[in-house]
Amino acid sequence: SSDSRVRIVEVGPRDGLQNEKKAISLATKIELIERLAKTGLTTIEAGSFVAPKWVPQMANSSEIMEHILQQKIEAPVPITYSFLAPNTKGFQSAEALLKQNPGRFATLLEPDVKKPAVEVAVFAAATESFSQKNLNCDIKTSLDRFKAVIQDSKALGLRVRAYISVVLGCPFEGFDVDPHKVAEIATDLLESGADEISLGDTTGMGTAPRTSALLKCMSAAGIRTEDIAMHFHDTYGQALVNTAVSLEHGIRTFDSSVGGLGGCPYSPGATGNVATENMVYFMESLGMETGVDLDAMADIGAWITQEIGKPNDSSVGKAVLGA
Ligand code: HMG
Ligand code: MG
Repeated sequence: SSDSRVRIVEVGPRDGLQNEKKAISLATKIELIERLAKTGLTTIEAGSFVAPKWVPQMANSSEIMEHILQQKIEAPVPITYSFLAPNTKGFQSAEALLKQNPGRFATLLEPDVKKPAVEVAVFAAATESFSQKNLNCDIKTSLDRFKAVIQDSKALGLRVRAYISVVLGCPFEGFDVDPHKVAEIATDLLESGADEISLGDTTGMGTAPRTSALLKCMSAAGIRTEDIAMHFHDTYGQALVNTAVSLEHGIRTFDSSVGGLGGCPYSPGATGNVATENMVYFMESLGMETGVDLDAMADIGAWITQEIGKPNDSSVGKAVLGA
């Protein structure tokens, strides 16, 4: 049934790699995306149009988008490729490439299962200190900037995802994150035209009761569960517990990263996103359908972590491979 269907948003190529100090080659990034595209995933976050002096690892996101627009990536199901854009400058980089490649991508206005779809993602923060560190501006200013990016994206027919970071704990303000503030920011982003809100537990400080309290607060504010995705980092090992709580609340979209890759440059000590292998295994154990091939995902996790010289952070991936 549709209620047992879960959408997994693979964020490894962006959230997973953005914090790596050593430059990862374009070829490796493209190989990662091509491998992921074969697993049955329907959404892959592929890059980020941000200032290269802030996040140098994402500097070749244009080349990645160009490769996707070549339409040579083989996939068993239609895929939406997501790209972050924090401001109009970042959006314009994406827009220029899209305009150079008319007819090579699908949009909400012109859906086409034979073409890759492109999505833009903006990213707000739930606390003023994180907003300053991550975006160099206050929350209000960021929301004004996102409104412009969302409007411009919509004019191109693109779907828009909007993140809110540090919703369950902030590296600077601790556990003191107000769920009402999160709901207020989410409402603003939805009113600006965002199609989906991804609630980021950037620091992994979320716990089961606080996840539940946050989602109750979102419902009370009139935000629909189908408009919410959960984005858990596994720093304290609570990601799947919080995922279970979110499922109970009716959430059906979850972000994860192959091999548990990741960390946030502005969130000291934060480890990776919950591993996609663990997420898929967990969903399968509950009888939920992800459409994602666990064995293939485990292979990719082992490969990419070795490729970039990191330990494989997926317990399930290692178990599946007998490693
Ligand atoms: P700023 O310094 O305030 O911006 O940064 P500025 O407008 O003063 O520009 C500074 C320089 O950056 C200028 O270049 C601009 O041209 C350039 P210069 O004159 O010095 O040579 N610039 C850009 N270049 C490329 N693309 C752009 C762009 N914008 C300006 N889009 C800005 C403001 C937002 C740009 C900056 O703070 C930034 O890029 N931050 C990046 C933040 C980031 O990528 N964080 C990680 C992603 S969020 C995340 O990981 C959390 C998430 O996973 C969810 C979760 O876990 O919670 C999503
Ligand atoms: Mg993240």
